[in-house]
Amino acid sequence: MTRKILVTGGAGYIGSHTCVELLNSGYEVVVVDNLYNASEKSLQIVQEITGKNLTFYKADIRDASKMDEIFKKEKNIFGVIHFAGLKAVGESCQIPLTYYDNNVAGTVTLCEVMAKNNCKNIIFSSSATVYGDPHKVPIKEDFPLSATNPYGRTKLMLEEILKDVYTSDNNWNVVLLRYFNPIGAHESGDLGEDPNGIPNNLVPYILQVAVGKLEKVNVFGSDYDTHDGTGVRDYIHVVDLAKGHVSALKKLEPQSGVSVYNLGTGNGYSVLDIVKNMNKAVGRELPFVLAPRRPGDIATCYADSSLAFRELGWRAEFDIERMCVDSWRWQSKHPDGFK
Ligand code: NAD
Ligand code: WQD
Repeated sequence: MTRKILVTGGAGYIGSHTCVELLNSGYEVVVVDNLYNASEKSLQIVQEITGKNLTFYKADIRDASKMDEIFKKEKNIFGVIHFAGLKAVGESCQIPLTYYDNNVAGTVTLCEVMAKNNCKNIIFSSSATVYGDPHKVPIKEDFPLSATNPYGRTKLMLEEILKDVYTSDNNWNVVLLRYFNPIGAHESGDLGEDPNGIPNNLVPYILQVAVGKLEKVNVFGSDYDTHDGTGVRDYIHVVDLAKGHVSALKKLEPQSGVSVYNLGTGNGYSVLDIVKNMNKAVGRELPFVLAPRRPGDIATCYADSSLAFRELGWRAEFDIERMCVDSWRWQSKHPDGFK
């Protein structure tokens, strides 16, 4: 029997790419998204790319009665891949209650509805941000956890909440996936990240410089203890990340308990490394200036993802060159995103 997966936040950046991989792997896909940070167009593209249909509900995960209705209508949802959430670190410092309501209360409501409908399988989007400022790299799953901003705290709280849910009822199977820095886009160039307003993250910012919407890249900090003084991160192709979710579904079997995996490549690239690779993809030198450090940033962050390889058989395949080429294909084909 084909398994039906509910994808919350499925119209968003990582969610839409995951829908492609789920459909390509033969799963039935039901998406719930309130379209707060996404366009329904992404789901149209997902269906065009795969040649398969999915079911979409425009709904908010905090709306218990609507969510219950969806579970009842769809009947046999095997598990939930839960992307829905707000993700801007800076914004979370300004409107923390909105973040706690949307991310934490939203997930609590979702889990209540799931339990009521006897669906106790969940894969949750966590983040490398839960490691705070790591004492060493590469980062392993058992490193100490901490949060430095409300967004990070929602992820940390939700990891704890989901562990408590499992402890209270061992019929739950929980997979916590800690993503490093997702970039890149589907190879078609028709599905990618479409941020609202001025992007906070490095690669979307560089891409807007490349299409002439922004003037130059500000390199936040050039005096870090790294090979060239700029911040080092573990950038991972969004398609690799999406495939990680399909691999993680095998942990949603009875008695699996709570599993935690880093999804990264294990390679660290600096801001200047990214600018250089993007120059190559775009075919010209993009303007940048060295600027002061951004408050709250850390010097270096990259994953040890060997556990995901050992237990899920998953590893990232795409290199940084490919990540930049695919990012640029998307941005150059669609300078205004899905608009
Ligand atoms: P995104 O904003 O593109 O996708 C999130 C989706 O959730 C959006 O489509 C949005 O409309 C929807 N949504 C938000 N609140 C909702 C609600 N209450 N009800 C229904 N839908 C709602 O973000 P993304 O980059 O695809 O991230 C997906 C998940 O992965 C998030 O939970 C994010 O915190 C986490 N994550 C992202 C990154 C990253 O750098 N992109 C890194 C680590 C973790
Ligand atoms: C990467 C590097 C910046 C913008 C964030 C969240 C994290 C996770 C992923 C969700 C850093 C530098 C950036 C710019 C720059 N999201 N930079 N100029 O901060 O590693 O992680 O997104 O969970 O929680 O914190 O990603 O892309 O913002 O920054 O120099 O205009 O690029 O200082 O070294 P970050 P990022």
